[in-house]
Amino acid sequence: MPEVYTHGHHESVLRSHKWRTAANSAAYLLPHLAADARILDVGCGPGTITADLADLVPQGRVTGIDSAAEIIEQAAAAAGGRKNLDFATGDVYALDYPDASFDVVHAHQVLQHLSDPVRALHEMRRVTRPGGLVAARDGDYAAMAWYPESPALDEWQAFYRAVARSNGGEPDAGRRLYAWARRADFTDIVSSSSNWTFATQAERDWWGGLWADRSVKSAIAEAAKERGIATPEALERIAKLYAVETDIRGQAADERRRVRQERSRPIVEALQIWLKAQLERISQKGKLAEAIRYALARWEGLSLFVDDGRVEIDSNTVERSIRPIALGRKNALFAGSDGGGEHWAVLASLIETCKLNGVDPQAYLADVIGRIVQGHPNSRLDELLPWAYAAPARAVA
Ligand SMILES: C[S@@+](CC[C@H](N)C(=O)[O-])C[C@H]1O[C@@H](n2cnc3c(N)ncnc32)[C@H](O)[C@@H]1O
Repeated sequence: MPEVYTHGHHESVLRSHKWRTAANSAAYLLPHLAADARILDVGCGPGTITADLADLVPQGRVTGIDSAAEIIEQAAAAAGGRKNLDFATGDVYALDYPDASFDVVHAHQVLQHLSDPVRALHEMRRVTRPGGLVAARDGDYAAMAWYPESPALDEWQAFYRAVARSNGGEPDAGRRLYAWARRADFTDIVSSSSNWTFATQAERDWWGGLWADRSVKSAIAEAAKERGIATPEALERIAKLYAVETDIRGQAADERRRVRQERSRPIVEALQIWLKAQLERISQKGKLAEAIRYALARWEGLSLFVDDGRVEIDSNTVERSIRPIALGRKNALFAGSDGGGEHWAVLASLIETCKLNGVDPQAYLADVIGRIVQGHPNSRLDELLPWAYAAPARAVA
């Protein structure tokens, strides 16, 4: 069976590949390039790194090869008339070149997609001259990190790694490169690491946007659906429930209940029936069956929001609210005594209640403590509670 390139070449995939340059993706290699080097760039994709390499070896020659003919056509069209650059289709397992043809054989983000990266490295080495260089850089999806914590990104990470593995690839390739090189009989190996950082709003929008599109529009989405890693029907049903929530956000509990009874109840009931039917049709050992059983076993809690307008559809708000408390849990060890701990809890509740009511907790506490010290009557303490306090603040805003 031919190997599957996990991503395919959808526009959202190429948006990421075309952003790549020799500087941001192959910096470790650049000091080793002689001006007359002969370079083979294996799995070159749209060839932006390949073209940069050609500019860096003006007296040399660069060839980009890729197993996908359509991407080679695009790369060749974008080559910008460079005289020392050419592209061809080719397979890394069976390179169409005699032994020792190149000074440098390079592969960027390719080995992770192969079922036998060691065999590929062997073949790359065959076409490299003795004393030449085989250079590979690969991502490591499990090593990706972000802040703040994001359950959605955790889910994306698990989803992507599952699809990549189901295609026979290894998404956590970065950490394995040294071992793969050893197994391919290399003895003089230099390892290093580098990363891409997406920190500013614009960078995050770009990265998040392209992965959002890649997850639903590229070959990844198709593979995930085919193999039952994600089921579009379930996602569509859940999306409809969230659409109802958007319409009733901020409305009174009774109204939310009324609308949910009318619009959400049929979707929830049909979803339960559909999930039970799916469970009978799929392998009971798979992750999908595990996920469906998990949901069905908690159906009462999951569907509580339909009958109770006060309850949110998911626990996101609660999880967001308790995150600072969970993060500060260690500080609570310094409460000193049980009584100190209880006071701590009261303060934490007050602060979170302020946030829920749109009141700045610090300003609130400073003001309220001041008023109590100045003799605010005990009988009217309820006026100082965050929800009562909120009213004048909102009127001023
Ligand atoms: C993640 S892309 C990397 C493209 C480019 N190196 C870059 O970093 O922008 C991986 C590329 O490897 C190609 N590829 C996958 N299997 C291959 C194989 N057996 N031989 C040659 N190319 C292959 C895919 O078609 C794809 O274009």
